[in-house]
Amino acid sequence: MLSPNMYAALNTHMNTELYSAYLYLNMSAAANAMGLKGTANWFNVQYQEEMVHFMKFYTYINSQGEQATVGQMNAPSSRFPSFLGMFEETLAHEQYITSCINQLTELAVQEKDHATQIFLQWFVTEQIEEEENDREIIGKLKMIGDNGYGQLMLDSELGTRVFTPPADPPA
Ligand code: FEO
Repeated sequence: MLSPNMYAALNTHMNTELYSAYLYLNMSAAANAMGLKGTANWFNVQYQEEMVHFMKFYTYINSQGEQATVGQMNAPSSRFPSFLGMFEETLAHEQYITSCINQLTELAVQEKDHATQIFLQWFVTEQIEEEENDREIIGKLKMIGDNGYGQLMLDSELGTRVFTPPADPPA
């Protein structure tokens, strides 16, 4: 059972995860348009991961006897300043998502909603990895600077990322 407050907060965040998926889909297309095919792949994998996050919330809300509801959302950006700028925006977005997950967790603690606290723990851990990945790529891009060969090498490395479906599929 979810309180009305917890239900509303989880449903709002479910939509934010869907927004994240659309944002990264746009980034994938933008990277492709820049000729960065490997980076386009990296963002496509990121899109698929966000769809898993979205479905985890969707399934959890429904499993608690409530109705998950997809709502209207703002269109995500489709123009990004540069290779580095794209990952800086990604890190900023993930830091925002981390703050949302922390707020949800605080609400679950306040409400003594143990089931939701356990559900959210997966996301607390996931956000550490998400931010770490972005910081690592930003660090490499800053080292590379304007070196075209270095950018091509990194793009090639990002092209090796593979989507791994979760061991516990959400639906
Ligand atoms: Fe679902 Fe990247 O946070």
